[in-house]
Amino acid sequence: MTQYNFQLDARYSPAEAPTFGKFNLTLTNISNRTIRPARLAWSALTRIPKGASISGATLLSRFGNFHEVALPGATELGPGESHLITVHSLSHAPKHRLDGPKSACLTLANGSTQRVLTGDLALDGPDSGELRIWPAGAVTQPLAMLPWPRELEITAWREDCPILVPAPDTNAKNLAALAHVSALSRRLFPERPIPFRLDGTGVPITFVHEIRAPDAYTLDFSPNGITLTSSTPSGRDYGLTALAQILHGCQTDGSRFSFPAEGRINDIPRFSWRGSHLDVSRHFWTREEVMRFLDILAWHRMNILQWHLTDDEGWRLEIPSLPQLTQTGAVRGPAHVLPGQHNDIWRSRGGYYSTADVRRIVSHAASLNIDVVPEIDVPGHATAALAALPHLRDPDETTDSYRSIQGYPNNALNPALPQTYAFLETVLTETAALFPSRWLHVGGDEVDHRSWLSSPRAIELMESEGLSGTMELQAHLMRRVQKMLRSLGKTLTGWDEVSEGGGIEPFDTLLVAWQKPAVIRRLIQAGYDVIASPGQAYYMDMVQASGWMEPGASWAGVSTPESCYAYLPDEGLTASEMPSLKGIQAGIWCEHIHDRALFNHMVFPRLSAVAETAWSPQSTKDWNRFAALARHMPQL
Ligand code: ACM
Repeated sequence: MTQYNFQLDARYSPAEAPTFGKFNLTLTNISNRTIRPARLAWSALTRIPKGASISGATLLSRFGNFHEVALPGATELGPGESHLITVHSLSHAPKHRLDGPKSACLTLANGSTQRVLTGDLALDGPDSGELRIWPAGAVTQPLAMLPWPRELEITAWREDCPILVPAPDTNAKNLAALAHVSALSRRLFPERPIPFRLDGTGVPITFVHEIRAPDAYTLDFSPNGITLTSSTPSGRDYGLTALAQILHGCQTDGSRFSFPAEGRINDIPRFSWRGSHLDVSRHFWTREEVMRFLDILAWHRMNILQWHLTDDEGWRLEIPSLPQLTQTGAVRGPAHVLPGQHNDIWRSRGGYYSTADVRRIVSHAASLNIDVVPEIDVPGHATAALAALPHLRDPDETTDSYRSIQGYPNNALNPALPQTYAFLETVLTETAALFPSRWLHVGGDEVDHRSWLSSPRAIELMESEGLSGTMELQAHLMRRVQKMLRSLGKTLTGWDEVSEGGGIEPFDTLLVAWQKPAVIRRLIQAGYDVIASPGQAYYMDMVQASGWMEPGASWAGVSTPESCYAYLPDEGLTASEMPSLKGIQAGIWCEHIHDRALFNHMVFPRLSAVAETAWSPQSTKDWNRFAALARHMPQL
């Protein structure tokens, strides 16, 4: 067992703006010897603002969520003794227990570094909030399907969980499809029997190919067996996944779920884009974890992974002609250019996907009918890229002249520098070659409105092009990026701010609306195709209840499982606007979500709620049924 020699306990005393209250940080020596600590570093999403007063320490640095303070020179702590640091103003009011120091690291007077046990922020005062409610739910039909099908008429149920086999003369492609869904089921539920056997006798499945919409399928149940009708491999696979789910329900909870004996399921998805985003920058998810997440998406009949590969905290995609990006930009910690952020700041943390990893992940996704849309987040959120390639900065820009909302100084690629475009050309060309997807997501979010305003080259560009301010500079860059992507045969996808500062050509441009629900309609009216992913409903890092003890953030409010399920992505759209809403997407941001247990608590059942809204007509939705069925969905 790894031993800690120190514990850091953090308490929050609330107050109104402008100070937002104070932090009391108590550092206790839990070792059996006297220690002389010199510097304490921690990472906290509630940051220390510029000029804040601190007692018991002196601020040395702030970089994103990373803070380091010097302790008074003579500090010496005997076994069991404590030192108190008080931070008298905060960047904003923390709302939940993970908003304080997430991890901490102590440097001793002799230069050695020590990990420090920390984690929960305590609240001084009452907590009137609630914890997550995920009721047991109830089903009115004994069918374990999620997402629920569009049309369903089951007239008789079997007494047993049948063995499903292919009908005689099933062709090799369909045999392979059966085996493929069995393999998916085996990976997700290794403790259960596989759904389809290729030997022996059982209920036969007959495959029928008939022209119908892509992704649609029909299952006819009769005493002679099951007929699966579809016109595309994805429609067929969705039908098989539905059968595997129904069987899984009957195997895991036979008192509530049965297998149809007679009747019909006629199904087609509501939206063509049924997506989830995954942030692998704040927390690096291994190749195996990403592949399991793809399996989970497939089980939900979701079909898009927006893979958030780059951000301030890490560049995760190997670009062979720019090895510095991953050599420097994919690791953070005490001995690296990028300091630690979020979890485990006392040690090196890193990881990236090699081109071989990406090919493996993309091919696994394709086999599950999932399109992987890479996201290279530019021009903001670029700290890792700028740390790896310092020549991308304007050398005459004032350092620390702006900070992003996450506290990163001067973190945006400069639209006025020729080297920015050379960099983008290389990165986008190599990314486009790796990912077969039609779409390439280029971010565009959260560029601070003071960005580049102290860069002499950006000022020259504004004068020569008649541009005014940061957002017009960003739109100038995005228009060039759109041209590059078109010449690479890709469609530009970005966050909703791509529409700001004059925006870009809306034709064949897909924007993901995240800031608030009203943005969905505004973008459609501006001519863009839109994916609805408002933080208020679909960001899985938002807390699921108001209570202090709930993990997660709440800048976009509380997204309870029920409100996430009930959210209407098309609310207020006219019939003529509806076709521009291409789908919906979950956002899995990982400042808080840094291990599987947190992932499972935060993402489920809300990912399943997004999956059902993406697939099922609104008229078929039922919160009670969903609450019961979502418990049977696989987790990471
Ligand atoms: C975002 O949440 N910054 C897209």
